[in-house]
Amino acid sequence: MAKTLVAYYSLTGNTKLVAESIFGALPDDKTIKPMAEAGDLAPYALIFAGFPVQTHSVPYPAEVFLRSVPEGKKIALFSTHGSVTGSRLSREALEHASVLIAGAKLLGTFSCRGKVSMKALEVLMQSPEHEAWADMAASAATHPDASDLEDARSFARWIATLGAQGHYRGL
Ligand SMILES: Cc1cc2nc3c(=O)[nH]c(=O)nc-3n(C[C@H](O)[C@H](O)[C@H](O)COP(=O)(O)O)c2cc1C
Repeated sequence: MAKTLVAYYSLTGNTKLVAESIFGALPDDKTIKPMAEAGDLAPYALIFAGFPVQTHSVPYPAEVFLRSVPEGKKIALFSTHGSVTGSRLSREALEHASVLIAGAKLLGTFSCRGKVSMKALEVLMQSPEHEAWADMAASAATHPDASDLEDARSFARWIATLGAQGHYRGL
C-alpha cells in the first residue's frame, strides 16, 4: 500500500512533467496517477495534487478531486500557469484550491509557469476575460524548465519532511 500519492490533472503535459519531478524526489512508498484514476484516497498518508490554472481558477476535474480529499488528510498543492510566477493571477487558483480541500491539512504549495499551447492562445486572445494574463503567456514558452523542475523537487523533499514530522502550516 503506497504511502504518498502524486495526483495530477494535465491537458498539455506541463503539470504532468512537474508531477513526475515531484514523484522522482520523494522517498519510496509512493505512487503517481492522473486524478481521474486515483481511486480511494484513504490509504495515503500524504497527497500531492497538481493542476493547470484555467480561467484564473481550478479546472473542474481537479475541483472534483480536491473536494473528495478526506478530512484531516495531509496534502500539498501544486499548479502550472501561463502568467508570471508570484502574480495575483497565479496565486488565485491555489487559494481557491485550498478552500476546496478545507478539511484537509495543507502542508504547502508550489507553482511554476507552463507554456500555453498555440491553439489555446489563439482562442484565449479573443476573449476579453483572458487579456489579463494572455499577454504574459508568450514568455512562458520555455516552461516548465530545468530550474522549475529542480524547484519542484526541492518542494517535494521539503513537504515529505514536513509530512513525516507531522507539521502543518497552511497557506
Ligand atoms: C483553457 C485554458 C485556460 C487557461 N487559463 C489560464 C489562466 O487563467 N491563467 C494562467 O496563468 N494560465 C492559464 N492557462 C495556461 C495554463 O495554465 C498553462 O499553459 C499550464 O501550464 C497548462 O498545463 P497542462 O499542460 O498541465 O495542461 C490556460 C490554459 C488553457 C488551455
